[in-house]
Amino acid sequence: ETISWDPEDAGKSGYDHYMLKEIYEQPHAIRECLRGRPQTIDESITIDELEDLPRPERIHFVACGTSYHASMYASRLFRERGIPATAFFASEYDVDAIPVDEETLVVGVTQSGETADTLAALRDAKKVGAGTLAVTNVVGSSAARETDRVMYIRAGPEIGVAATKTFASQQAALAMLSSAITGSCSREFVDALRALSDQMQSILDDSSAKEIAEEYVDSDAYFFIGRGYNAPVALEGALKMKEISYKHAEGFPAGELKHGPLALVTERTPVFPLLTSDANYEKMIGNIKEVESRGAPVIAVTDAEERVEPLADHVLRIPKTDRRLTPILMNVQLQLVSYWVANRLDRSIDKPRNLAKSVTVE
Ligand code: G6P
Repeated sequence: ETISWDPEDAGKSGYDHYMLKEIYEQPHAIRECLRGRPQTIDESITIDELEDLPRPERIHFVACGTSYHASMYASRLFRERGIPATAFFASEYDVDAIPVDEETLVVGVTQSGETADTLAALRDAKKVGAGTLAVTNVVGSSAARETDRVMYIRAGPEIGVAATKTFASQQAALAMLSSAITGSCSREFVDALRALSDQMQSILDDSSAKEIAEEYVDSDAYFFIGRGYNAPVALEGALKMKEISYKHAEGFPAGELKHGPLALVTERTPVFPLLTSDANYEKMIGNIKEVESRGAPVIAVTDAEERVEPLADHVLRIPKTDRRLTPILMNVQLQLVSYWVANRLDRSIDKPRNLAKSVTVE
């Protein structure tokens, strides 16, 4: 008698897809990313690889896809902490059209370290004398070799084409990078970083994303809205949904809703507001009312206890954390929703049509 054994499944450890396995690996990936970096004694962050990195005048992030969303998130964090920072699509980066000089640090955020557009942007930056840094997952990748310095995100190999755990690790790495470069950190921030791993685990243990995905699998489109630190995650939530379910999805900064996208909102387009109890709370409630009055199902992803239920049809909870780290937790719920929609539709989740894990042509 022979045992049927598909080598394709060997690494899945019992999960149906690498994507789901990698979603569940996030608590571990975050712990690895943090290992040795937050310091308890002086409440600072140390990144050994970058010890002699001078404080730049400005930072340009260059990245594609999911890595671009991590870069959007990071640029807000750096700006808030006093260094002007901008995220560019690597394919749109143009050193001739914007000032790039020795005082500029150009950070290539790339999981694989092999994305052609990102490598090209980093090479252009180097040519005009900028400092370059790669934030990558792959040791010895082209980005790691060609830049002045490299910070590893330590997420471990990611097989699913859609980036999941590497996005979480990129955000955590970039949050630490912002502390290391700007010197702004606190006991609370260090504690919040350290709590992320267990908080992610609690989301994975309790999420009702599967039931919600099943209820809304026949929808026309899915919209994701957020403000501030949650805006990049709204874009990422939509990208994930498009990539693996082939359903129409869009993410917007919530304030942009009424400048066009609201025309698409109907009772057949669930809206996912990313709602944190922070300065944007009331404005987000306003946005929820806008879509609710058009009949859209509202699925709030939130850390807030108050006033959400009467407005939202469903709530996906996240634990409370530092307001700058909420997107890392929000995203876990969105990954699960996309995964279960795609799963119900029987899509090729680990290898979506037309897509590649790493795009090596410009
Ligand atoms: C491809 C992948 C995406 C990824 C993007 C950037 O499009 O399918 O998941 O976000 O490349 O890849 P990188 O390796 O540079 O982060």
